[in-house]
Amino acid sequence: MTMCTVLFTALLLALAAFAAGEKLVVCNYEAKSHLREGQGKFEISNLDPALQYCTHLLYGYAAIDENTLKLVPLNEQFDVIKDNYRHVTDLKRRFPKLKVLLSVGGNEDVVGEGDEKNEKYRKIVETSTHRLAFANSAHTILKGYGFDGLDLAWEFPETKPKKIKSGLKKFWSSVKHTFTGDHVVDENAQQHREQFTALVKELKSVLRPDNLLLSLTVLPNINSTVYYDPRSLAPHLDFIALHAFDFYTPQRNNELADFPSPLYELIDRRGDENIDAWVKYWLSNGAPANKLVLGIPTYGRTWHLAGESKVDEFPITDLSGPGEAGPMTKEAGLLSYPEICTKVTGPQGNRPIDGQFKKVPDATKRRGVYAYRLPDKDEKGGLWVGYEDTETAANKAQYVKNKGLGGIAIDDLTLDDFRGICGHNKFAILRAAVSAL
Ligand SMILES: *[C@@H]1O[C@H](CO)[C@@H](O)[C@H](O)[C@H]1NC(C)=O
Repeated sequence: MTMCTVLFTALLLALAAFAAGEKLVVCNYEAKSHLREGQGKFEISNLDPALQYCTHLLYGYAAIDENTLKLVPLNEQFDVIKDNYRHVTDLKRRFPKLKVLLSVGGNEDVVGEGDEKNEKYRKIVETSTHRLAFANSAHTILKGYGFDGLDLAWEFPETKPKKIKSGLKKFWSSVKHTFTGDHVVDENAQQHREQFTALVKELKSVLRPDNLLLSLTVLPNINSTVYYDPRSLAPHLDFIALHAFDFYTPQRNNELADFPSPLYELIDRRGDENIDAWVKYWLSNGAPANKLVLGIPTYGRTWHLAGESKVDEFPITDLSGPGEAGPMTKEAGLLSYPEICTKVTGPQGNRPIDGQFKKVPDATKRRGVYAYRLPDKDEKGGLWVGYEDTETAANKAQYVKNKGLGGIAIDDLTLDDFRGICGHNKFAILRAAVSAL
């Protein structure tokens, strides 16, 4: 054997060992990322360095036609006419073990407002005729484009954000009882819960004969207790991705910032605003641990920091809405990991260097990291960002390992450092999480 074949065999063995590690690495891919400009533009070829780590790739997102209630492409032009569905499922030729699923919903298919927002997601489950038509339309699309399955990133109504009555804002501890968070958002929630189980059962029986997979993504701020019955859903699902993050976003909480995705309960927060609470709900209600995969975001949520805000008294009050958009993502209130890593300074020094963020690491390994830049004399440029970095992503993967969960779900690849701007390696968050599994 030449040196070359020895190395090659070693490589194959290493890859096989990785595959046998059995943990799922679900990688979300947001197709809309091709619309970003400059360094933020993400093309199919950018996926390559990530795919050796992913067991599943979720194509985000497909939509539901309001009138027919059938599954349809969200962006016909790009997905179908420009053949992006095909380009993505064709990746399986080079990555034969990869499973590519089409994901529907994901807060990308939002129609209507108020009580009518995303009504179609409730209408589908309500009658067996609609459920069957949806299942058949999904089957046709999956088969037609070579997908391995369907992911339901179902857009049930979100919980209402916590509000603090104005005037008392500064006295956080004394206003704990004035939350107005637990409104009823869906009067037929109980029926929808049962009907969703029926949808999942019926879908699986349509998909099973072709060995097509079915998974559920629990979107942020959807109350699992209300909509999902773990014990009756789990047997029909291949995995359940818990997107336990975005508990606080500048869109939901305009003047209030907090850790977007803590691992454990923090003092004075609602008991279900942490990862551990979500996992406990699913486990104690009959979901097998190996079917649960934990969502790990690759971005941060930002708020505009005003003069009066205290940056390290949580939750932070007196903020004025979403922080300014980043140069690559161009979306107020959001920064991708590479947008953050290029701005953040280390923990040295007491104050942020001009124009840069000061990072405050998480010694507790419970809450997550944040960074901030104080406003200047003219009240400009202040920003607070709660985010995920390689360390917190690894902590979450470690949690998955300790609890014997099925794996992780990276949300999403296009906001990770896919160009390797932050360090030597591309996809730093994905890699950090995978190595800790
Ligand atoms: C979720 O639903 C449960 C049961 O209805 C309720 O007790 C809890 O307060 C809800 N959580 C949120 C954040 O609304």
